[in-house]
Amino acid sequence: MAQSLAWLNGLFLNLENAKISVEDRGFQFADGVYEVIRVYHGRPFLAEAHLSRLQRSASAIELPLPLPEEELKRIMMELLHRSGLEEAEIYIQITRGVMPRDHRIPDRIQPTVVMTIRAPRIVPPEIRTHGARAITTTDERWGRCDIKSIALLANILARQKAHRSGAYEAIFIRNGYVTEATSSNVFLYDGSALLTSVADHRILNGITRQWLIQLAKNLGYTVKEQDIPQDALYTSREVLLTGTITEVLAVVEIDGQKVGEGTPGKVFRDLYSALHSSLPG
Ligand code: PDD
Repeated sequence: MAQSLAWLNGLFLNLENAKISVEDRGFQFADGVYEVIRVYHGRPFLAEAHLSRLQRSASAIELPLPLPEEELKRIMMELLHRSGLEEAEIYIQITRGVMPRDHRIPDRIQPTVVMTIRAPRIVPPEIRTHGARAITTTDERWGRCDIKSIALLANILARQKAHRSGAYEAIFIRNGYVTEATSSNVFLYDGSALLTSVADHRILNGITRQWLIQLAKNLGYTVKEQDIPQDALYTSREVLLTGTITEVLAVVEIDGQKVGEGTPGKVFRDLYSALHSSLPG
């Protein structure tokens, strides 16, 4: 039977039996990085790109990856095999490790590596079909949003604000410009080109974002990576969210204002279908 499993510092375990110390720096300081990888039809999608980003995030926080990418991939495949899951979500988290609480990074510390597998979260079908409502909110995150850090408090609070107002996602605005959403990237279609924010320190350069830029170009769309003023959200024909769990999602209402016709548009349909044609299976 398919089941949720974990691999923790060398051991395969049932998910509920995977435990870490209260002195893990991930628990105490959010001192760690992570990745989420989607499995379709028994095959991890874009795993190499996710693992290289994990390597980049780890090195940006001065945490040398304790296992080579190849080994992480091997563990991932074994976890997948043992779980029996065909559709799954793999979570990899690497933290600095366990030590008595102290802000300084010790010279010698063994990182904690955990990988879990479970059935994937799915965007509710009615939101996929009819589109999502979103709100905008001030981007109160730190200055290194390009690092996939496990410190997600600002994302969580923004998502909760969206939830409270009946919306699915919150789109962050920094100094008047769109950055990204709490767990997805943002694209706009202005009638002639697809626009998305520049992949600098202000956003996480989503693996799905990069994949879709390529797919959109293959379909003949012009894609521009540029600063996007908040106002453009309300005047564009379509707004899309992209991410590993989100895939591609149409946003049909922002801050109570209709986007375009208020229904998912052609660009959404083109990209959603191009993404699905490119999935393993
Ligand atoms: N989140 N931006 C942010 C802030 C994210 O957290 C994510 C992904 C993305 C999209 O990246 P990708 O296409 O590589 O998944 C953009 C993951 C899925 C999460 O935290 O669950």
